[in-house]
Amino acid sequence: MLNIVVCVSGGGTNLQAIIDGVKEGKIRNTKIVGVISNNTGAYALQRAEDAGIPAFCISPKNFESREEFNEAFLKQLKELNPDLIVLAGFLVILPEKMIEVYRDRIINIHPSLIPSFCGTGYYGLKVHEAALTRGVKVTGATVHYVDEGTDTGRIIMQKAVDVLEGDTPEVLQRRVMEQAEWIILPKAIDQIAFGQRVK
Ligand code: GRF
Repeated sequence: MLNIVVCVSGGGTNLQAIIDGVKEGKIRNTKIVGVISNNTGAYALQRAEDAGIPAFCISPKNFESREEFNEAFLKQLKELNPDLIVLAGFLVILPEKMIEVYRDRIINIHPSLIPSFCGTGYYGLKVHEAALTRGVKVTGATVHYVDEGTDTGRIIMQKAVDVLEGDTPEVLQRRVMEQAEWIILPKAIDQIAFGQRVK
């Protein structure tokens, strides 16, 4: 059984795709042992509670320094003792120690085909705005391992999505989620749970 912790900051539609995937048997051999958010208002926390999954909010605002926040965050992770950490729309720069401790056991979903539109500053709608500005005809999503860089870790899975005439960043974001993110993130976890990924 692969025990996973999902880290979130916002709406949590990717978290929902994982919850549903486990329930529907699309993600096999996997248990979500906890959800951690850095944002008190994240709807993702509600989704976790609705699904009966232990949910924790660890906000930097409640700590005097970044170090104290990092420590509390790592402590919570340690208590949950995950085999895999899934970053699903988690807008926090990870403590370096976390990357060291959980090397090759942290994955992230990014809403473009890496190496396009990724790295520092490319998050949320900004990714889709950049894709539209550049005029690409195809974009997509990428699941990758997390290392010390931003979006630089080994790629696990990608899926392409068409950009259509008249797309706004919001419309494109939704299509990338529906046609790529919500499909490949559950799929990647399922493959990892079955040891099908070669590290
Ligand atoms: C997704 O587009 C994800 O790729 C990105 O942040 C967004 C999170 O959406 N990194 P949600 O919270 O899963 O709905």
